This record gives sequence, C-alpha cells and structure tokens, in this order.
Amino acid sequence: TVAGAPVGLLWANQATPLAEPVLFAAADFPIGMAVQTGRIKDGDPFQTGLVRHFNSVTCENEMKPGLIHPQVNTYDWGPADSTVTFAQNLGMSVHGHVLVWHEQIPSWMSNFSGSTAEWEAMLRSHIQAVVGHYKGKVSSWDVVNEAFLDDGSPRSTIWQQNIPDYIAKAFTWAHEADPAAKLFYNDYNMEGLPAKRVAVLAAIADLKTRGIPVDGIGFQAHVNLDWPTSADFKAAVSAAAAMNLLIRFSELDVSVNPNNTQSQLTDSLRIQQRARYKEIAEAYLTAPSALRQGITLWGLRDPDSWILYVFNRQDWPCLFDDAYRAKPAFYGFWEGLMP
Ligand code: G3I
Repeated sequence: TVAGAPVGLLWANQATPLAEPVLFAAADFPIGMAVQTGRIKDGDPFQTGLVRHFNSVTCENEMKPGLIHPQVNTYDWGPADSTVTFAQNLGMSVHGHVLVWHEQIPSWMSNFSGSTAEWEAMLRSHIQAVVGHYKGKVSSWDVVNEAFLDDGSPRSTIWQQNIPDYIAKAFTWAHEADPAAKLFYNDYNMEGLPAKRVAVLAAIADLKTRGIPVDGIGFQAHVNLDWPTSADFKAAVSAAAAMNLLIRFSELDVSVNPNNTQSQLTDSLRIQQRARYKEIAEAYLTAPSALRQGITLWGLRDPDSWILYVFNRQDWPCLFDDAYRAKPAFYGFWEGLMP
C-alpha cells in the first residue's frame, strides 16, 4: 500500500462508475480535459465523465491549423464550434490549442512559398481569423507550441525559417485579435530538462522585456512514473512563478509503460501511478494561487489515450480505465488537488 493512504481510497468504487467524488470540486482552479469532438454525444460515457469531473475543455485536435484551416480560403469551424458551444452551455471554460506548431499543419501551409511579408500575412491572417472567431468564448490560448528542442536550441520549422521573430509576432497578432485572452507558450520536457526550461524562460523574459503580450507558460506534463521528479516539477513552477507567469499543467498524463515492457496494468503500477498523480497535483499547488490557470488531463480513459496510437504500444496513462471506472490514479490526483 501507499504510506499514509487510506486503503479504502486505493480501490474504492472500482465497480461503480461515476460514484467517485467530483474532481473539479476539489480544486480552486480549472480542471480540464482534452476533447475529441466526436465523443461529445448524449449517452456516451465520455460525455458523462467529462461533465461530472471537469470544468474546462481543450480541443485535442480540432483547433489545430490542419483541421480548422484545411484550405487557404476554407475554415472548418464546425467540430471545434460544437465543443465550444457544449462547454459554454455548461459554464465550462475553453482553453484554445494551438495557433503555431510544426505538426498538424495543412499542406497548403507546409507548401507555402512567398516573401517574408507574404509569410507574415499568411500566419497573421490564420491567427487572427481563429482567435477572432472565438473571441469572448476561448479565454486563453496556446499561441506557440514546442518551439524549442530538448537542448534549448530553437526548433527549425517552417515558421522559424520563414518569419523572423515569429514567436513575438504570433503573440502580438493573437493579442490584437482578442486583447482579453490570456496567451501561453506551451512545451514538453521543460519540467525535467533544466537546459530546455532555462532557454524557454529566457526567451519569454526577453519577450516580456520587449513588451510582447505573453501571459503564461504551459508545462505539458507528459510524464513517466519516475521522471521528471517531484523536485523537478516544483523547480519548474517556482521558476515560472518568479517571472510572474500564469502557470498551466496543460496536457497531463502518466505513462506506466514507456519502454513497452509491461503487458498489463499491475497492482504495483496502479499504486505507483496513484502516488505519482498525487505528487504532481501537490507540485502544482506550490504555484501562488493567483498564477494557477489550471491542470488539463490529456485523455479521460486509458484506451483512448494518444500514447497508444501515436507510439503504438500498450499503456494506461489516464485517470479512468477502459470501463470508465476511476483508477487509483484518480484518487491520488483528487487527494493531491486538495489544499
Ligand atoms: O482524424 C484522422 C482519421 O481520419 C484517420 O483515419 C486516422 C488514421 O491515422 O488519423 C486520424 O488523425 C489522427 C488524429 O490524432 C485524430 O485522432 C492522427 O493520425 C494522429 O496523429 C493525431 O494525433 C494527435 C497528435 O497530437 C498529433 O501530433 C493526438 O490525437 C493528440 O493527442 C496529440 O496532441 C499533442 C498536442 O497537440 C501537443 N503536445 C503533444 C500532444 C501529444 O502528441
């Protein structure tokens, strides 16, 4: 058992879906879920779990340029709109993801050719169309995602190659389209790799010095059982807080099978994962409350996680199992959220 953990809470309600306590009620900041629009359907247990436990949503894919802007003169607002409307009707907040990334861009953007001014006009028009469309509905945005490599150097992308100072421009353009939206830089491995964290925070500090409207940082938190450490998480939170940045844990999940050595979710893994989710929530709570913009989980139920189909391996990274039963991880996270 986990030291200090009430044994009943390790396994409670395993046979009773949705009898567990309401997750978001434990926190004084938003608790979000990545949503694939097709799963929002009356009677789908995904929708039931989403509504019960979460008070913020992020489209897992549908606001990415490749989906929302498939042709140069065509925006496909429908899927993202339906998720935003669903959330609004329930009083949930919406965090937008993502305006500038090197993945999931439409071929017309990848193949774009033009002068610097034409590249700038293209990206500006995309950003301002999307942010403008959701003005007043999407309260915060991942403006730039994954612009740095693990060693802290800038990632070479079509944006970096074609638009000088594209990060600053993207934030400026997004701010012009919705001055009230909170604007985030989002990336992975900043918790556990100090070189990456230092480089990103230095870049954000430089933007702020220049008056560029960057409000916050999203630590994706796609993590394993033993990495990054709790101390790494706290160091990341503390460094961001020292710069007065709003802080999100933006795509949290805990892989228990990173090396593809497990064929099933054992009791030992369940208990380790429970402790892990708890310590991550506790690390988040070391952020000053005024800077807490929320934690978003990147998937509700294990078999639907991106990790399975992107890495083509078995894994059990989420808070709920295949039958939508709360795992011990759920109770660890829930406990960790409580002040
Ligand atoms: O929609 C198509 C479907 O029509 C097609 O039949 C199917 C066949 O492969 O693919 C479907 O698209 C998949 C899409 O997810 C929707 O499910 C793509 O192949 C798949 O690559 C895509 O994966 C997404 C991934 O980003 C793309 O890089 C994941 O769902 C999404 O969770 C993941 O999210 C990212 C964040 O945006 C940024 N941070 C990392 C995170 C995890 O990679």
